Amino acid sequence: MSSQLKLRSSEWFGKNDKDGFLHRSWMKNQGFPEHVFDGRPVIGICNSWSELTPCNAHFRRIAEHVKRGVWEAGGFPLEFPTISLGETLMRPTTMLFRNLMSMDVEECIRANPIDGVVLLAGCDKTTPAQLMGAASCNLPTIMVSGGPMLNGKFRGRDIGSGTDTFKFSEDVRAGKMSLAAFAEAEVCMSRSNGHCMTMGTASTMASMAESLGMTLPTNAAIPAVDSRRYTLAHMSGQRIVAMVREDMKMSHILTRDAFENAIRVNAAIGGSTNFIVHLLALAGRIGVPLELQDFDVLGHDIPLLVNLMPSGEYLMEDFFYAGGLPVVMNSMREVLHWNARTVNGCSVGENVVNAECYDDRVIRDLNNPFMHQSGIAVLRGNLCPNGAIIKPSAATPKLMAHRGSAIVFETPDDLRARIDDPSMEVNETSVMVLKGAGPQGYPGMPEMGNMPMPKKLVQRGVTDMLRISDARMSGTAYGTVVLHTAPESAVGGPLAVVKDGDQIEIDVESRRLQLVISDQEMSTRLAAWSPPPLKHTRGYASLYVKHVLQADKGVDFDFLLGSSGAYVPQESH
Ligand code: FES
Repeated sequence: MSSQLKLRSSEWFGKNDKDGFLHRSWMKNQGFPEHVFDGRPVIGICNSWSELTPCNAHFRRIAEHVKRGVWEAGGFPLEFPTISLGETLMRPTTMLFRNLMSMDVEECIRANPIDGVVLLAGCDKTTPAQLMGAASCNLPTIMVSGGPMLNGKFRGRDIGSGTDTFKFSEDVRAGKMSLAAFAEAEVCMSRSNGHCMTMGTASTMASMAESLGMTLPTNAAIPAVDSRRYTLAHMSGQRIVAMVREDMKMSHILTRDAFENAIRVNAAIGGSTNFIVHLLALAGRIGVPLELQDFDVLGHDIPLLVNLMPSGEYLMEDFFYAGGLPVVMNSMREVLHWNARTVNGCSVGENVVNAECYDDRVIRDLNNPFMHQSGIAVLRGNLCPNGAIIKPSAATPKLMAHRGSAIVFETPDDLRARIDDPSMEVNETSVMVLKGAGPQGYPGMPEMGNMPMPKKLVQRGVTDMLRISDARMSGTAYGTVVLHTAPESAVGGPLAVVKDGDQIEIDVESRRLQLVISDQEMSTRLAAWSPPPLKHTRGYASLYVKHVLQADKGVDFDFLLGSSGAYVPQESH
């Protein structure tokens, strides 16, 4: 350790007064001997384990392996819990609680005698929430992801989390799948520990962490139950102790170059659209300038290099056996910042330069991609003055330039109530519009943007329609779906004044999304609009709606932007 470096934990454990007694004595009730308070780095293991977050339910075992590495390297590991966000169970949506979890992570790190942090994350929001919270403290930090589940196996074929759930559910509605088969698929889809094994939001977030340089190489794809996941946890425990000794803080890794790398890699892997709001929020915490337009500018010319659901055929287990993210990054050397630093002390280039592809059915290179257009297109127009987004690799090509009549659902409840109404006047050229599903409107910006299609069209074999909302979309979903329309309808964005029968035009090539009415008509409608009544007047939800930023700003709270650092001058007693 540098002789200049004073550990912040010494402010607690290094004192010989009443406070030092208090801090050490109560810790000793856990059986820690005197010598662990000898000035070694204290490593906080920030654990989002919960049985209510099934994707993170194996994290206590991962934490034990991290601890082995920390002890081995001469550190003192201390595991602590935070709230956890289970995507499949929490109502009304985990996104409502991402910022709350980030506050929990931030305050727990800052308030305690921690010199370095290992973040254990898996299910969708747990990754950005932990990174955001830790970034606002800016200590040496490394992330270990929980890893994806093994491939789903159903009646002789592989099935993917979420992606096949949506397909099966539509098949049941169309009468093509029995309810008994649907029930049988449940356990076949989720047959091991781990998070969703499609390139959904969890895998996208793990890949984001790896491409930002916040994890050891190969972190994103190792299956949760593969022994190498536990080896990586062990090695991460070792490494964080060295990072404390090197004083390598998050801000040394999370530079503008790192964010640009993450955007380009996300385009190459066909990552979830949720990547946008989470990366924008993380940039806001660490103080790196990043805008919605950057996602289009930096990612629009990156082709799709992986063949993974929901855009392709394979799953994360296949991705790992093919070589994983280092292979993708190695093939992108011309477009990545090769010298960006990563947590293991090496540059991106040093980490991935020897990565080899073992299966070109799953990973290709820039010269031979699976699809030439990938990434995320940022749309503009009178319907979305501050932007809206679409994922071209998940869309139907012929709908990328389209004009149709709006079918408007005023709220998600209105959608649920009417979607299967046989009298609804709708056809495959119609444009479904959903309001009231943005950050403030729902509240929490749920994953409802890939709204189900009208039953009568599903039964006729229609598989996609243009759908527009201020909601998000599950990373495991697909379709021609315009999301994150900003400003949202609940704050008076133009989406609020769309009416049934209005003509809507989209042209993804020119990045246009337009409600075909005159400027005068738009002004008249907006002037006549009044906000919906407040749904929440107390508790966390009321704080949320008062302070949440719009989708183009990352949906963070206005008062959480930036960092407060890790210093706390006041003693506790
Ligand atoms: Fe947890 Fe998909 S539900 S990652």
